[in-house]
Amino acid sequence: MVPLQALIESEVAVIFRQFCTPDDDVSYLLADPVSRYAALLDPNLAAERDYLEVLRRLDLRLVYVIETHAHESHLSAAPVLRAETGARLVTHSSVESACVDMHIDDGENLFLGEEFLSVMETPGHSACCLSYRWRDRVFTGHTLLAGATGMCQRSDADAGRLFDSIRKRLFALPDETLVYPGRLTGRRRSSSIGEERATNTDLQPHSTREEFIRRKELEAGYSESWRQDSLAANRRCENIS
Ligand SMILES: [Fe+2]
Repeated sequence: MVPLQALIESEVAVIFRQFCTPDDDVSYLLADPVSRYAALLDPNLAAERDYLEVLRRLDLRLVYVIETHAHESHLSAAPVLRAETGARLVTHSSVESACVDMHIDDGENLFLGEEFLSVMETPGHSACCLSYRWRDRVFTGHTLLAGATGMCQRSDADAGRLFDSIRKRLFALPDETLVYPGRLTGRRRSSSIGEERATNTDLQPHSTREEFIRRKELEAGYSESWRQDSLAANRRCENIS
């Protein structure tokens, strides 16, 4: 049996923060408590000062800026954070950006001192979407949201691939896996694979791939046009701070 003191120390040792911005996009900080190496997932330019303040307060060294995909919904803080901290920008191998330092693909691990993230390709919302497993949780970007699924508005979106990514890959994870999405739905900040499998209205067990594709086409038709300007700026790696 694990001594109680060891359990308490192990829980205290998790360094993890969630940041929500007014545009409802969500980013995450995680770190190795031993080396003090840190990573930021999907950092948003709107929260740039918050990240730097938390890194300073917790005495962390930012090693990686990790994107789940090339973003269209916000301007990335990656250019500023790279310049200010020397962190390396990590993206899927298909992402063409002026400031990518490291490309990764399905099945690879990204090491952060004693910690590591496992890379899962989960295309659909975009062709370059990745999810990352870390400890007991998975960061799903704009693929699987809490009680919803990502939009399919972009020219590289594919609703059928989104359905497969969630049903075949993310739903294959253990039920107790915590889901941390890259976008808020309502006020929900997290979920679990078991909860999503049981209650996600887009992905009920009886609904077919064809029905899902049809719903996504309708949803894209009714939504505002997606923000090509943000996507283009992120690809150019513009530092506009
Ligand atoms: Fe997105």
